[in-house]
Amino acid sequence: MVAKGKSLFDASCGKCHNPQPSKTAPNAWETPVRPVGTDSRMASNAKQKSDPGMFTGAVLPPPSIGARYPACPATSDCALNVDLLASSVVGGMLANAFNPATLTSHEKIRQNGVFRALGRDLESLPHGEKVEDLTAPGVSHLDDLKAMIKDRLSNMYKSQPPEAAGAAYEARVLQGIWATAPYLHNGSVPNLWELLTPPAQRKSSFMVGNRLFDPKNVGYSTETSPFKSGNFVVDPNNGNGNGGHTFGTDWTDEQKWQVIEYMKQM
Ligand code: HEC
Repeated sequence: MVAKGKSLFDASCGKCHNPQPSKTAPNAWETPVRPVGTDSRMASNAKQKSDPGMFTGAVLPPPSIGARYPACPATSDCALNVDLLASSVVGGMLANAFNPATLTSHEKIRQNGVFRALGRDLESLPHGEKVEDLTAPGVSHLDDLKAMIKDRLSNMYKSQPPEAAGAAYEARVLQGIWATAPYLHNGSVPNLWELLTPPAQRKSSFMVGNRLFDPKNVGYSTETSPFKSGNFVVDPNNGNGNGGHTFGTDWTDEQKWQVIEYMKQM
């Protein structure tokens, strides 16, 4: 079933979800951002503007490298919500990475996500240089390194397709997807079987928060929730719509189970 599922997946899903081959290794950064008809609210919220408040004067995220948030005129909001979110996430990660409590031992530094990511970037340096070479006096590769880091970072902010095409989200690589239900950016689809069900027939409400794994449909049990307000109610008016992403929904049940079997072992 896995082998049959893989053929189906490669033919119908891989162009968006398979890691893109790069010069060095398959590259999860290169996954496409595509409009696939899922709930647009998160993308449209991200494109709205706000007053940067305490971020006024702070460094803007890529691709505007070097630029800073301006002070907004009293009457208008001038910073993109998505930039403010990026600044707070990146700022939080950097603050943690360079917190004295993180820097106490080599072991702690090695475990830190920011340093691990930097290490990976350094490993894939253009000409196969070693990290040690970069710190050598009179180093000539620093420009390469800067260009590469800028390139990687700007990849986080791909320009969106035109508004008319609908909201666009990242078609992530699906390695480990078995463990990350509920699905889509807003968690509106409880399991992989439901994702392969035509949107109109998907569940309109289900319980979330249960850790009992459902290995058949691939997701978590949706019968009960440990939380008082654990009922997810699908509602396209508040960002909780479950429409779109109709790929594979017209397949036979047999084909759907095959592709689910394949995704289970990705
Ligand atoms: C045209 C590109 C495209 C194709 C083809 C495509 N997908 Fe997707 N897929 C996306 C995008 C974009 C998202 C993110 C949508 C969102 O979060 O709202 C997504 C989301 C998903 C998710 C949920 C990921 C998550 O973390 O919640 C799964 C699972 C998935 N796709 C499986 C498939 C399967 C299986 C197929 C083939 C039958 C397929 N996709 C075909 C673009 C595509």
